[in-house]
Amino acid sequence: MSKDQKSSDVVWHHATVTRERRQDQNNHKSVIMWFTGLSGAGKSTLAHCVEESLHKRGCRTFVLDGDNVRHGLCGDLGFSIQDRTENIRRIAEVAKLMMEAGVITLTAFISPFREEREKARQIFPHGEFLEIYCKCPLEICEQRDVKGLYKKARQGQIKDFTGISSPYEEPMNPELVVNTAELSLEDCAEQVMGLLVTRGVINPV
Ligand code: ADX
Repeated sequence: MSKDQKSSDVVWHHATVTRERRQDQNNHKSVIMWFTGLSGAGKSTLAHCVEESLHKRGCRTFVLDGDNVRHGLCGDLGFSIQDRTENIRRIAEVAKLMMEAGVITLTAFISPFREEREKARQIFPHGEFLEIYCKCPLEICEQRDVKGLYKKARQGQIKDFTGISSPYEEPMNPELVVNTAELSLEDCAEQVMGLLVTRGVINPV
C-alpha cells in the first residue's frame, strides 16, 4: 500500500492478461521515455518525431504532453511548486498504467524539479524509466519563443515561469542528453531510437 493511500480496504486485483503477454503480442517491450527540459527546448516535437518512427515500425505508442494534459486530467493545476509536483505525480501514475498496457510511453513535461523526477522514476521497475534531457540554453528557448510565453513572462504577465521566475534543475544522471539546440530534429530522434535499441526495447533496423 502506498503511503498516500487513504483506504486500506482496497485490494489489488491481478490481471490475467499481463504486461508480459501484451509485450509478447506487440513484439516489443514497453518502457517510459521521460523527456524533460525548458519550455521551447523541443520535448514535444522530439517525442512526437520519435513516436512517428516507432509507429511506422508497428510499435504501440502514446505521447503524454504537458500542454494537452493540462487541458483535461491536470486542468485544475497551475504552476506553483505544489501544483507542478501534483502534475508530475499524476503523469507518472498514468504513464505507469500505459506501460502496464504494453505501450511505449513518451512524456513531454518540463518537470523542473529533480526530486519529483526521481519520485517518478521510483515507481517504475529498475531500468525501465529513461530520462531524456532536451538540453537547450534558456537564451535560445527565449529567442524561439514559439508560444510567446517568454515575452509575457519577462513583462511580468506570467508568474512562476520556468527559467525566468521559477527554477529548472538539470538532470544529474539522465539516460540520455540530447542537444536540441545544435542537432537537427532527425539527429535527435536517431539518438533516442539508438537508446531504445541499446536498452533492448526495439530491435535494430
Ligand atoms: S511542469 O512544470 O508541470 O512539468 P508542464 O510541462 O506540465 O510543466 O507545462 C508546461 C507548459 O505550460 C509550457 O510548455 C508552456 O506552454 C505552458 N506554461 C504556462 N505557464 C507556464 C509557467 N508559468 N511555467 C512554465 N510553463 C508554462
